[in-house]
Amino acid sequence: MAPARAMSSGIKFSAVLISFITAAPAPSPSTASKAAPTPAPPAALTLPQSIRPPVFLLPGSGSSTLDAAFTTPTLQRSCGNTSTVWIQDISNLLSNATCIQQALPLTFNATSNLWQNNTNALISPHDFGGLTGVVGIPVDNPNIHPIWLAMVQMLQGQGYTVGRNLFGAPYDWRVSFYTLSRIGWFAQLQKSIETAVKANNNTKAVIAGHSLGTLVSTYFLGTYTTAAWREDNIAAYVSFSGLYGGAATAFSQFIEGSSFGFNVSSATLWSSARTWGSLTQRAPIPEIWGNRVLISSRSKNYTAGDMRQLLNDLNLPQQVATYDRIRSSIFNLTDSPLYVDVYCIMGNSIPTQTGLAYDVPAFNGSVPLSGGQATYGSGDGVVNQISLDECLSLEPVKVLNYTGQDHGSVLGNPDILKTFVGILQNYSTPIQSSAVRG
Ligand SMILES: *[C@@H]1O[C@H](CO)[C@@H](O)[C@H](O)[C@H]1NC(C)=O
Ligand SMILES: *[C@@H]1O[C@H](CO)[C@@H](O)[C@H](O)[C@H]1NC(C)=O
Ligand SMILES: *[C@@H]1O[C@H](CO)[C@@H](O)[C@H](O)[C@H]1NC(C)=O
Ligand SMILES: *[C@@H]1O[C@H](CO)[C@@H](O)[C@H](O)[C@H]1NC(C)=O
Ligand SMILES: *[C@@H]1O[C@H](CO)[C@@H](O)[C@H](O)[C@H]1NC(C)=O
Ligand SMILES: *[C@@H]1O[C@H](CO)[C@@H](O)[C@H](O)[C@H]1NC(C)=O
Ligand SMILES: *[C@@H]1O[C@H](CO)[C@@H](O)[C@H](O)[C@H]1NC(C)=O
Ligand SMILES: *[C@@H]1O[C@H](CO)[C@@H](O)[C@H](O)[C@H]1NC(C)=O
Ligand SMILES: *[C@@H]1O[C@H](CO)[C@@H](O)[C@H](O)[C@H]1NC(C)=O
Ligand SMILES: *[C@@H]1O[C@H](CO)[C@@H](O)[C@H](O)[C@H]1NC(C)=O
Ligand SMILES: *[C@@H]1O[C@H](CO)[C@@H](O)[C@H](O)[C@H]1NC(C)=O
Repeated sequence: MAPARAMSSGIKFSAVLISFITAAPAPSPSTASKAAPTPAPPAALTLPQSIRPPVFLLPGSGSSTLDAAFTTPTLQRSCGNTSTVWIQDISNLLSNATCIQQALPLTFNATSNLWQNNTNALISPHDFGGLTGVVGIPVDNPNIHPIWLAMVQMLQGQGYTVGRNLFGAPYDWRVSFYTLSRIGWFAQLQKSIETAVKANNNTKAVIAGHSLGTLVSTYFLGTYTTAAWREDNIAAYVSFSGLYGGAATAFSQFIEGSSFGFNVSSATLWSSARTWGSLTQRAPIPEIWGNRVLISSRSKNYTAGDMRQLLNDLNLPQQVATYDRIRSSIFNLTDSPLYVDVYCIMGNSIPTQTGLAYDVPAFNGSVPLSGGQATYGSGDGVVNQISLDECLSLEPVKVLNYTGQDHGSVLGNPDILKTFVGILQNYSTPIQSSAVRG
């Protein structure tokens, strides 16, 4: 496997991730590429003889592979007869977008007040526990974006083995924490962690979350599980590029749709994105953003406190219905200590969208818009610095803040990977020699 190829895919993915949150094109791809590390194989590091902590990888939005069971043969055919709707050979899928346009929207159940699968396709994460759900199928396909590949290769080089002490935790990134909870995903994660901890001589697990995966991890640790369970099962949580204060222009996906960084119109996924409950989880938090104008039309300026109004104006009554609940769970995410060691790893000094101004009289949600005029501030190219810095409220044992690293490159940079190995080493259980036990 050529590391150079892997790294260049990783760099490409950092640009892709920009649109996961902002929908708009990368602010300055040349800056992002320049900032990315020079491709180099991770330095060989050897963990001492010990039982390594099992590692669980929680990817960001769009980075989990999704399978679909189609209910109509027509849609099955549009999807190239594959069961993988996201993300296998995305260039093929996008050449006829019918597949993802019909498979990916959620429908709102007004009785349960929750989003659920639409009737065309039942979607579930691919290969939970394995790696193809987070790295992709196959791992070296340049049309997918193996953002975790460098880390996975490094861990495997350290003797980490899939299914024994290395696990992917892909999830349906379209849905909110509530839905993940209701469909049993957190229960599945919890069970897998327990099993892995037992199988590794009660060596507690390390959770590594990236981007949206940091919010999912924090919800799992701070809200879903009990302190007693974490005490027994979790050694540390490593946060990569966390967006604990939301993203300034997160709701632009409701306005424009998203190209996910591919060479297609953002409008391709506009009607789908309008149904994704996970997007409101990235709402900018008013306490952090204050009165800054984040989104505007000619007739209205929207601050973080106006996001509910923005959803109303965009004609998204169902997102409004779930917004308050999701918002309070996000606001509370960093409120209480997690009682596990937290490491905050982030980039900085990459231009990052802080505002989008649309030259339309008013929003009405009837058509996808494009061409919002962006303003930029500091951050990792996707997540604003103010939001990355909120990781401090998790009371981390260590902050690793890398100037010039961007949202995606923090997962591939050789120095950062070395540090990650150091973290794992610190949570390993020494192997008991029979002499000692003698
Ligand atoms: C896309 O797929 C749909 C459904 O199979 C089909 O009806 C349509 O003609 C295709 N469009 C193109 C441009 O191939
Ligand atoms: C999907 O399978 C059907 C029936 O087996 C076949 O007719 C069709 O050509 C296949 N389509 C693709 C894109 O492979
Ligand atoms: C909507 O949710 C209710 C309550 O959970 C459930 O009984 C019902 O089957 C759901 N409707 C559909 C169409 O799935
Ligand atoms: C969609 O359907 C799949 C397959 O039945 C199921 O595993 C998943 O939980 C459903 N997702 C949602 C959001 O209801
Ligand atoms: C993007 O796609 C268009 C056609 O849809 C093509 O003309 C253009 O060259 C592509 N750009 C890149 C960078 O691939
Ligand atoms: C929005 O804010 C800008 C500057 O902050 C101001 O010039 C403009 O008048 C405001 N627009 C509205 C509709 O309030
Ligand atoms: C969040 O915290 C507020 C104030 O402490 C509380 O009223 C609210 O119920 C909490 N929300 C959730 C979802 O826990
Ligand atoms: C909705 O907004 C679009 C974009 O500004 C505009 O073209 C359209 O006329 C508006 N529709 C209504 C019903 O106001
Ligand atoms: C990271 O570095 C940037 C640039 O110096 C700074 O603005 C930011 O506050 C730092 N964040 C943390 C958590 O150290
Ligand atoms: C591992 O632990 C040692 C000793 O406490 C400490 O000096 C080192 O910084 C730790 N490594 C990491 C990557 O946190
Ligand atoms: C794992 O635990 C068992 C039982 O406590 C012990 O016999 C064994 O030596 C341990 N293995 C290692 C590699 O430490």
